[in-house]
Amino acid sequence: MKTGATDPLAVARAPGFRAALRAFARERLPGAMVPGRIEVGGRFPDGLTGTAYAAPTGPVEARLVGIWQDVLGVHRVGVADDFFDLGGTSLTAAALLDRVRDECGVEIGPHELYAGPVIAELARLVGEEAVPSDRSRGIDPDALAAEALLPDDVRPGRVAEPVAPFRNVVLTGATGFVGAFLLRDVLDRSDADVHVVVRAGDRDGAVNRVRKNLAAYGLWRRADARRLVGIPADLSRPYLGLDRPAYEELARRADLVLHSGAGTSAVLSYRQLKTTNVLGTLEVLRLACRGRVKPVHYVSSLEVFPDALGVRPFGEAEPPDVDGVISGRAQTKWVADRLVAQAGRRGLPVAIHRPGQVVGGRATGACPPELFLCAWLKGCIQLGSAPELDLFVDAVPVDFVAASIARIALSGTGLGRAHHLPGAPPVRWAELVDLLSDSGYRVSRKPYGEWRRDLRVAVEAGAENALLPFLPLLGEEGPAPDLPLRRVGHPFEADRAGGSETAPPVGVSELISSCLDYLVAIGNLEPPMAAG
Ligand SMILES: NC(=O)c1ccc[n+]([C@@H]2O[C@H](COP(=O)([O-])OP(=O)(O)OC[C@H]3O[C@@H](n4cnc5c(N)ncnc54)[C@H](OP(=O)(O)O)[C@@H]3O)[C@@H](O)[C@H]2O)c1
Repeated sequence: MKTGATDPLAVARAPGFRAALRAFARERLPGAMVPGRIEVGGRFPDGLTGTAYAAPTGPVEARLVGIWQDVLGVHRVGVADDFFDLGGTSLTAAALLDRVRDECGVEIGPHELYAGPVIAELARLVGEEAVPSDRSRGIDPDALAAEALLPDDVRPGRVAEPVAPFRNVVLTGATGFVGAFLLRDVLDRSDADVHVVVRAGDRDGAVNRVRKNLAAYGLWRRADARRLVGIPADLSRPYLGLDRPAYEELARRADLVLHSGAGTSAVLSYRQLKTTNVLGTLEVLRLACRGRVKPVHYVSSLEVFPDALGVRPFGEAEPPDVDGVISGRAQTKWVADRLVAQAGRRGLPVAIHRPGQVVGGRATGACPPELFLCAWLKGCIQLGSAPELDLFVDAVPVDFVAASIARIALSGTGLGRAHHLPGAPPVRWAELVDLLSDSGYRVSRKPYGEWRRDLRVAVEAGAENALLPFLPLLGEEGPAPDLPLRRVGHPFEADRAGGSETAPPVGVSELISSCLDYLVAIGNLEPPMAAG
């Protein structure tokens, strides 16, 4: 820019400086990347982006920091950092806005991000409603029961006995954790083509997202590409967001439906998750009823059983009670579970699979780092302390869950009932803290209140901590009941005679240990002191 001055601050004070700089940027950058606002600082900044680090000040900002870190692959993000200075592009911007929509339930347009690409600004647009308080995440039991009434149009026509082998399997959720392993298993156990229902712009985009996800877990095989059919779709939209011909084609070709897709955030409310988890499941049931009737295997969750009801095990034949299911996510799973069961009573061949808390597979421990238990343990390691909690932790390995669902579904059996996949017997939280110490991590034990205070102080001072996205769930009195930490250690019953698998012979601590090894191997977690 030609101003004749050499002092940068004098240049910045010159009349028309901002307009000239914007015109300069407009000549060289794509329109979307031209900055909407230009600020002049009096000193060189000190943060990662050149901006002084500013810590999140509330749960919405904390949530957005977590999303930015994931999307950008950057560890330390301040609320004043510019998205594009951190390496954001138009593609990552689209991914960011998708995540904000899914996890905060608020639609923000690209122009709004470009006009103010900092977390503080986005948090204002998202609003406090986006991270609901404990009380507002769920709805009351009467309202919940009323949500679980199957609409009249979900009704199968003439039902023929499902006959294996199935040739065209529809799978939702293949870009997720369980979905990746389920897809691997289906591909390995059958010769079927798999129609992957994925949020994407087109068919290739859908297959590419699935390929990348499988590759990330070491599950992709070159030959898989020819057996995958990409279905760019959205569970939260009528007819899955497909146009009429694509919907009819899918309904005509499919002969088996595996429904694993769902919004899985623990901090969102029932209302925020309903479109994907409840209405999306209805769309899947409608697809199964359309034309030739197709069996549906629904991936539910053991969280549909309330935690506080006592110490007796819950059997597979027992319908889960509405009372006591309080978290937004568990409530959506409860409603969808009940809708699937009702579709079954109307003659649709359905099976409900209810895993416990799913963790990394037995062979590699591979799991998403943001998985609740991984994030929780990593956060304790980062803080150097863990809370004393009288709670239980369950865990079931993802490969076991996937194998069990795929085996039952592909054999055409197990219909008309629920299958529990509780995994190993739950252990006390204290046992996992011991595991951290035994592995060589320096982690002291503190009363919950003191630990929570330390965590908040550390995060507000800008310390990196994997527990950041869960801060809204760490109440003053204890962790919110939405978190998969159980108050009672009773196992759920799986009925082997009915075809359900038995618990794998691997304990919770052993499973968690391999997840931590995996996080170290992928560079997500510092190795313990003992390992050097
Ligand atoms: N993980 C556990 O501990 C656990 C325990 C019990 C039950 N389950 C159940 O197992 C299933 C899979 O869980 P997960 O751990 O694999 O979750 P995940 O990793 O979060 O995967 C969720 C999947 O659902 C897809 N999805 C979300 N919203 C969608 C939409 N509107 N349209 C199309 N696809 C959408 C996601 O696609 P994107 O990639 O586009 O987001 C992703 O593929 C869920 O039903 C969950 O409730 C999980």
